[in-house]
Amino acid sequence: MSSALFSPFSLAGLELANRLVVSPMCQYSADDGCANDWHLMHLGMLANSGAALLVVEATHVERHGRITHGCLGLYSDDNEAALSRVIASARRAGTAKFGIQLAHSGRKGSAQKPWEGPVALKSGADPWETIAASPIPFGEQWHTPREATEADMDRVRDAFVAAAKRALRIGFDEIELHMAHGYLLHGFMSPLSNVRTDQYGGSFENRMRFPLSVAKAVRAVVPKGVPLGARITGSDWRDGGLTPDDAVATAKLLKAEGLDFIDVSSGGVAADIRNPAEPGFNVPIAARVKKEAGIATRTVGLIIKPEQAEEIVASGKADMVAAGRIFLDDPHWGWHVAKALNADVPRPVQYARAGPKLWAPAAAKA
Ligand SMILES: Cc1cc2nc3c(=O)[nH]c(=O)nc-3n(C[C@H](O)[C@H](O)[C@H](O)COP(=O)(O)O)c2cc1C
Repeated sequence: MSSALFSPFSLAGLELANRLVVSPMCQYSADDGCANDWHLMHLGMLANSGAALLVVEATHVERHGRITHGCLGLYSDDNEAALSRVIASARRAGTAKFGIQLAHSGRKGSAQKPWEGPVALKSGADPWETIAASPIPFGEQWHTPREATEADMDRVRDAFVAAAKRALRIGFDEIELHMAHGYLLHGFMSPLSNVRTDQYGGSFENRMRFPLSVAKAVRAVVPKGVPLGARITGSDWRDGGLTPDDAVATAKLLKAEGLDFIDVSSGGVAADIRNPAEPGFNVPIAARVKKEAGIATRTVGLIIKPEQAEEIVASGKADMVAAGRIFLDDPHWGWHVAKALNADVPRPVQYARAGPKLWAPAAAKA
């Protein structure tokens, strides 16, 4: 029987060869937001992973919206030129289409790189003032953010729009807004991090107001035919936080703003919250979002077995399966998943001899 995972998918007009996606993964290796040879190697490698779509790491819409000094940005002409070079080269080398995740770090910004310790930058390390829905730190050893004003929200919204225009000029095939993992937009959505008493806090409707305004403004400049979606949180994994019901409601609101897809992730809204450890822990939430909101749905989170990925798509729980760490461990993971499922993937001609013929007994003669 043919594989559902390796069947083509038309995402709002973008033709994808299969349903496998490389999840965005920060490399903390940029120079003032500019992609460099590390990104060329990393993205060039993953452009041949077998996944039809490769989503570039969280790319920040303003300099002080980065997480670390090494995070990618799209806030300057230099950033745009650097990422253009990298994407054009990686595209020539690989078979994947390219998405980009646009983000603002909020209260998780001004942080050290993970390998330096996951805490705020120290005073000698050029820290900056962070903004968030409310002045509540992400955790111990994190900065207390300043409560975002309407002027901050206007500036950040404009920065998302400007970055989206840059992404379009670079030629990205799709754009994803980061509304998860505790960064600025998710920070507004979650009652755990948003205790405002104005029109941006309190009720679900109020907490969604700023993130929705960003989605609306970005949609206005991203033409139909370039899929625009959002990574949202399926659960804050804490009492009093966002729930799968909220994820469904969020997806419905984003769909009404014209977004084309939802990527269901979860967690990350406070430093002491841990995600569940079972494989595919976001899948049941994604299945609800897909069914109840009626929008193209992607999910992610410990999906590391070919049969599991296949089942998610074949049973209609999600339209696309994203994976992160397994692609770092095995950059041709998509090839190996395809092999396990008796399917095949596009490969560069230079590597064609490593295709299915190699697995057949006759390969010994080659
Ligand atoms: C090194 C690394 C960097 C990450 N950076 C991002 C990011 O830029 N944006 C994002 O939404 N998620 C990011 N994530 C989360 C992944 O996209 C993914 O959701 C998570 O790792 C769970 O999927 P997995 O179990 O397949 O790795 C990152 C994960 C890793 C391991």
